[in-house]
Amino acid sequence: MNGMSEKIVVYSPGRANLIGEHTDYNDGYVLPFAIKRYVKIEIEPSKSFRVFSEQTKKGIAFEHFNRTDSWADYVIGIIVKLKERGYDVKPFNMRINSDLPMGAGLSSSAALEVGVGYAICQMMGYDISMEELANIAHSCEVEFVGVRCGIMDQYTVALSKENNALFIDTMTKEYKYVPLNLENVRIYLIDSGVKHELGNSEYNKRRKECEDVLNAMGQKSFRNVSIEDVERISDEILRKRALHVITENTRVLKTLSALETDNFRLVGKYLYESHYSLRDNYEVSCPEIDFIIGELEKSSNVYGARIVGAGFGGCVIVLANSEFEKVIYEISKKYDMKYNIELKVIDVETSDGVHRIE
Ligand code: GLA
Repeated sequence: MNGMSEKIVVYSPGRANLIGEHTDYNDGYVLPFAIKRYVKIEIEPSKSFRVFSEQTKKGIAFEHFNRTDSWADYVIGIIVKLKERGYDVKPFNMRINSDLPMGAGLSSSAALEVGVGYAICQMMGYDISMEELANIAHSCEVEFVGVRCGIMDQYTVALSKENNALFIDTMTKEYKYVPLNLENVRIYLIDSGVKHELGNSEYNKRRKECEDVLNAMGQKSFRNVSIEDVERISDEILRKRALHVITENTRVLKTLSALETDNFRLVGKYLYESHYSLRDNYEVSCPEIDFIIGELEKSSNVYGARIVGAGFGGCVIVLANSEFEKVIYEISKKYDMKYNIELKVIDVETSDGVHRIE
């Protein structure tokens, strides 16, 4: 510990995921990246613990580190998890602001957890590794907040590098950077305006189904499972879930090869295939998102698209050329007519992981 410093400002990015969905709790591969939309955290030493949200204009003061069933749990949980690992946390005053849409599948909760952890460690002068920070944030989400998510989001928020995607093998937690050459292609996120409930039963239900498939096959990990093994599963639902996991892992590896030659038409094809599998085998899409994908498919300016994150709403990630603005204009009109929801589009720029602004 180097002694406590004065006010510190931290930017913690949201994340998108190019491909590898619902594989991170199945020992699989993922290929996410951080985006230039941030949770901003200001922290300074104080006599007592206080957190203020600029967005809700609500603050909370606390002395004990118990759950509150509010957004403050992402802060309190990080303190608890840091302390469990032997990192003392002195009282602070914290202000939180964000331009990252909440509940849109862009990992605002991981951005908050990792950002809070990083801000506290910076204030306390702890030289903590980004991997440890990601693991602390992940244990906060799973054990304190109570959402049984995989490691993708926290790793991406902590470890990303601008102009790169992060390939993670979630079985070994090994990762490598994969350059994203976006000179001749654009990445967009379309917010469907439909909110998912991440903590809801469907996410945990899918996890349970995946555990059941492995038990049924007498396997411990999907990494030892072949397509032939999957085809022998008699329960149709379980067979479809396993089929998604196995084929999605293959698509991530094929995407890595396609990126080596900047073959974005091919990457786009894998994105569409990923979507069909998420829709038909994993069953985590919804009519609004399928409508958007259906419309995108009609345009040759779009290379590929799929639902991002946990599912049941949230965002669509799109690979397209610069004519996309015209395409989305038409789709927005139709979407508004059908669902009475205004589509919001983010023109994506990749970002570094959590960092401090001097
Ligand atoms: C959520 C979870 C992640 C991951 C995705 C689905 O974003 O937080 O860990 O499981 O869903 O790929």
